[in-house]
Amino acid sequence: MIHGDTGRGKAEIIVALDEPSLKDARHLMDRLAGRAKFYKVGLQLFTAAGPAAVEAVKDHGARVFLDLKLHDIPNTVASAVRSARELGVDLCTIHLSGGPEMCAAAAAEAGDRMTILGVTVLTSSNQATLEACGVHGSVGEQVVRLAKMGYAAGVRGFVASALELPMLRAELGREPLLVIPGVRPAGADAGDQKRTATPADVVRGGATHLVVGRPISRADDPGAAFDAIQREIAAA
Ligand code: C5P
Repeated sequence: MIHGDTGRGKAEIIVALDEPSLKDARHLMDRLAGRAKFYKVGLQLFTAAGPAAVEAVKDHGARVFLDLKLHDIPNTVASAVRSARELGVDLCTIHLSGGPEMCAAAAAEAGDRMTILGVTVLTSSNQATLEACGVHGSVGEQVVRLAKMGYAAGVRGFVASALELPMLRAELGREPLLVIPGVRPAGADAGDQKRTATPADVVRGGATHLVVGRPISRADDPGAAFDAIQREIAAA
């Protein structure tokens, strides 16, 4: 299990392998060899390449964040978590909105070798989205409600936007992992990300892990882009 306390002050970069094929993913990992030690395999690559994507990351001597955002009946989610654990996955996401039983089943099945990350409210959702789904109150309230429910059910890591990060760290204390996507080095192109933060911002906000995709994968020199972010983290 990866603990929040061990990461504090030296947040780790997770490079998103948002690539259409295993060949493209391997090419990016080759360009980052000796630097990146943690990769995210998401829905696109896992749907295209399956468990081979996880194995390819492990062949590179790196750890794996499997971002499948599981949400189903507790038994099905626990079974998927078991499969991920047997593949050697280190971090795996679930939707906290699956409820306390589903969260507890996932956390129990993950055991000590893997950490479950809870997703609260997707950043593509706003208050109107919540209203349409029958949830009243603000996005912030819903994020805190789901995170506390997940924590009580045994979930010890959360994915959050940089905006919610300080609030979650204050509510949940020192222990949990807080994994932050949408990170953009100062002066970088935001792409389609609307609410971005710099690596320094999220380190100061209490993040343990930064998920970075395009600022590294689409850079002319991904290795140099990785090093620049690493320096910004170290200086924060
Ligand atoms: O390329 P970029 O750095 O924007 O990639 C960020 C990664 O984090 C992508 O894999 C994206 O799906 C994921 N993500 C995100 N924002 C969220 C949740 C996940 O960008 N709120």
